[in-house]
Amino acid sequence: MKGVVLAGGLGTRLRPLTSITNKHLLPVYDRPMIYYPLQTLADAGIRDVMVVTGGNSAGSFMQLLGDGREFGFRSLNYAYQTGEGGIAQAIGLARAFIGGERFVVILGDNILENSIVNHVESFKKQSSGARILYKRVEDPRDYGVAEIVDGKVVSIVEKPADPISDFAVIGVYMYDNKAFDIIDELKPSGRGELEVTDLNNAYIQRGEMQANEISGWWSDCGASIENLLEANNRAAEIRKGIR
Ligand code: G1P
Repeated sequence: MKGVVLAGGLGTRLRPLTSITNKHLLPVYDRPMIYYPLQTLADAGIRDVMVVTGGNSAGSFMQLLGDGREFGFRSLNYAYQTGEGGIAQAIGLARAFIGGERFVVILGDNILENSIVNHVESFKKQSSGARILYKRVEDPRDYGVAEIVDGKVVSIVEKPADPISDFAVIGVYMYDNKAFDIIDELKPSGRGELEVTDLNNAYIQRGEMQANEISGWWSDCGASIENLLEANNRAAEIRKGIR
């Protein structure tokens, strides 16, 4: 199982913090934001990882992370995304790195309190397809929102004005190799991006999507300055053992 961390984009929702640097390099308590998703992959037993970056300060990731030995990785690889083509386009850049394997994608601004190892183990036992993770949130309008019927995700709507549920699809996605062929067929959304939600809906339509609800605190800390502030405070509490 390989891992991909997505760390591109312009981080417009966090300007001016992101005017000259990459969102995923901003501090969250005592370390750069990207350390958290990298640690989540490492804790799930993933040893071969690619960081897909772009936008401001793309070169700083190599300077910061080097060969990934701090996380116990066997290899740390880098890809560069030109422009704002979306999450699914960024995943597509990992095609050669992934080769014939299955993989876990994590967005570089997603911080999880608990390990995802059990979900990755369930995915390994799955014969094919994809697996997503979701969490109940107070206001799901900033996220992909899952419609769940009898424990099965039947559809996902990206950032709906009028959400059908309060289940946010978090930024951790597990795919088999078909993902790359599906991405090749995706059409840009209204905002001109290849959407990860469209990739996930394609797996749902094929009847090949599994899903798990996660436990513990989760943050998309790039979604707003308030999320970033909360993530700093929570990360401090977790690290100091207050939680
Ligand atoms: C992305 C996805 C969204 C998902 C979220 C999780 O949104 O498009 O479906 O719920 O990540 O963090 P973004 O935060 O990139 O706008």
